[in-house]
Amino acid sequence: MSFSSSVSNFFFDVWIMSWDVLLTLLNLVRRKRRIGHVTPEGYPGYGGHWPEFKPPREGDSRCCCPGLNTMANHGIISRSGRGISFVELTPLINTTYNFGPSFSSYTVHFAARMLKKSYKKDTFDLDELDLHNGIEHDGSLFRLDTALEPNQSVKHVPFIEEVLASATGKDKEGRDIITPKDISRMLGKRRAVARAVNSEFSLSFFHRVFSSANSATLPKIFGGRVDDLHSIFLHERIPDGWESRIRQPYGLTLTHFQKTVLAIEFGIREKDWAEAAQEAKRDATAPV
Ligand code: HEM
Ligand SMILES: *[C@@H]1O[C@H](CO)[C@@H](O)[C@H](O)[C@H]1NC(C)=O
Ligand SMILES: *[C@@H]1O[C@H](CO)[C@@H](O)[C@H](O)[C@H]1NC(C)=O
Repeated sequence: MSFSSSVSNFFFDVWIMSWDVLLTLLNLVRRKRRIGHVTPEGYPGYGGHWPEFKPPREGDSRCCCPGLNTMANHGIISRSGRGISFVELTPLINTTYNFGPSFSSYTVHFAARMLKKSYKKDTFDLDELDLHNGIEHDGSLFRLDTALEPNQSVKHVPFIEEVLASATGKDKEGRDIITPKDISRMLGKRRAVARAVNSEFSLSFFHRVFSSANSATLPKIFGGRVDDLHSIFLHERIPDGWESRIRQPYGLTLTHFQKTVLAIEFGIREKDWAEAAQEAKRDATAPV
């Protein structure tokens, strides 16, 4: 990366973070959106009416990210998953999931940088995000590591079912809720087992934080609600009537989100899973 682009990235980051802090403060003083009115009028999902779900067809591009695959399955971004403009993606992440505009913009700029593309001019296909140790990393909640499953749009159904079954919380209506502690526990298991069965396993500090951040969308954006998570993660489909569980007027900010991300990351105890890891290793190496 050239000196001038590093400098402009630095100023961009400072600007985004300042904007994000401002939005976080505004969220504290402004009223939350009313239940049933979180998705803004005029955008897909307004009033709980999501564009039709169609599973991907042969030749469509999908990726390791369930959030973006879901948007493609509903035609919120191109159903083919190809030729997605970075600039157009930003406001759609904002309106679909109520990520704050600073957070949406930051994530999409980050993806453009990772792919060495121009945010303003270029487009990308979803599968480009599968670049291993770009954002994609080992020890994920829902997918086998790249070394074991090179096609990263393949979800590992037993992992998803195990995560959904791990919920220990309940909301006022008695629904099952996944808590940040549940996520820490499951990520601890994933990491310990992946480390044992994948000889190419790697997970830098940077990727650990990414892993906790991706996973923190479960308790935050989806409110931990297992009924919704079932549809989103197993089928990459938005349930009818769904809206983001983030009701703040300026959406989920990075500043607010990082509390949950760090609580998840620092709550992970891989050591608790030593036995499960040994067992998985025996199973993986046992002669068939
Ligand atoms: C431009 C925006 C986004 C990019 C570039 C992106 C990229 C990625 C990538 C590369 C991964 C794989 C990480 C891994 O190896 O586990 C991932 C995972 C994930 N993403 Fe996204 N994502 C974006 C937006 C979203 C949104 C809007 C949501 C949800 C509302 C979301 C939810 C998730 C979740 C839950 C995972 C974890 C999957 C797992 O652990 O198996 N992402 N994302
Ligand atoms: C994000 O969404 C809000 C409405 O929820 C809208 O007012 C704002 O302009 C959007 N920001 C961007 C960058 O699209
Ligand atoms: C990857 O897996 C998906 C989902 O199972 C499948 O539709 C797609 O064709 C696969 N892609 C490749 C290149 O094998």
